[in-house]
Amino acid sequence: MTALSGTNLNGKEPTRRGKVRDIYDLGDKLFLVATDRISAFDWVNPTPIPDKGKILTQLSLFWFEMMKDVVSNHLISAKLEDFPEEFQKYPEMFKDRSMYVRKCKMLPVEFIVRGYLAGSGLKEYKAKGTVCGIPLPSGLVEASKLPEPIYTPSTKAEEGHDINISPEEAGKIIGEELNQKAANISIEIYKRANEYAITKGIILCDTKFEFGLLDGELVLADEILTPDSSRFWPADQYEPGKSQPSFDKQFIRDYLESVNWDKNSPPPPLPPDIVEKTREKYLEAFTRLTGKNLP
Ligand SMILES: Nc1ncnc2c1ncn2[C@@H]1O[C@H](COP(=O)(O)OP(=O)(O)OP(=O)(O)O)[C@@H](O)[C@H]1O
Ligand SMILES: [Mg+2]
Repeated sequence: MTALSGTNLNGKEPTRRGKVRDIYDLGDKLFLVATDRISAFDWVNPTPIPDKGKILTQLSLFWFEMMKDVVSNHLISAKLEDFPEEFQKYPEMFKDRSMYVRKCKMLPVEFIVRGYLAGSGLKEYKAKGTVCGIPLPSGLVEASKLPEPIYTPSTKAEEGHDINISPEEAGKIIGEELNQKAANISIEIYKRANEYAITKGIILCDTKFEFGLLDGELVLADEILTPDSSRFWPADQYEPGKSQPSFDKQFIRDYLESVNWDKNSPPPPLPPDIVEKTREKYLEAFTRLTGKNLP
């Protein structure tokens, strides 16, 4: 099975490569290609996961459609026949994994919503009883459900770890009104998605949204509600008080923990069985949530 590590347009490199996406800047539009690159512990692994990019793109499209009455989004089209002609020529590279989108002025804040306690939220709660400065009831444990989903923003760091900030600080960065508005939209989408996902046996622990501005209008951009931007937990194994199995990257994390890697230098490649198990998990998240087969 072949996987796509990176793309080019007739030999021309993309304008930018993110950790996962190849980004072609087309002036007021972008062509966003989700490759099969995977990152763990903040490092892109040299081994790609076949179909991962398609899964991310198709899952985002599913949610964009479901949430389109909540907020408008950046998507122009994800159909090959609507792509700019030069991209249509390479279906094996771009089909089913790319989005042709309106280029936004991205807000420099990540709109994270948490319904459960995990990750950096858990760390802060253990130290101070708060998450992003928001006080929470005492007695919560790892993976506890929060009384209400909360907005826990972070800065979009150019390099390294994003830094958690309070909602007030986010308001100072992007303006109070915009911050309130995007936070409310994020919480509403989280709630809807979580209610839906639980009917498919998946708990949406937390998730990250990115918003941009287009002619002054607030627009939901990037990817949404994918295993890369969210923590999905299998509901039948949910047990507060311990770390939950992550739907997708668990095998990779376990593998990288089991080998002698310092996490400060490029990571070792993945063996075929880890690749296959990881691919199956991404696929399972997709088919469970959408009820569809991957195109
Ligand atoms: N409509 C849009 N307009 C402008 N930028 C966008 C839009 N949608 C997504 N982006 C940006 O495109 C990039 C997507 O690439 P990718 O997901 O690989 O990045 P990442 O690894 O998450 O982060 P980084 O950009 O730090 O590498 C992100 O920087 C995201 O903010
Ligand atoms: Mg991203």
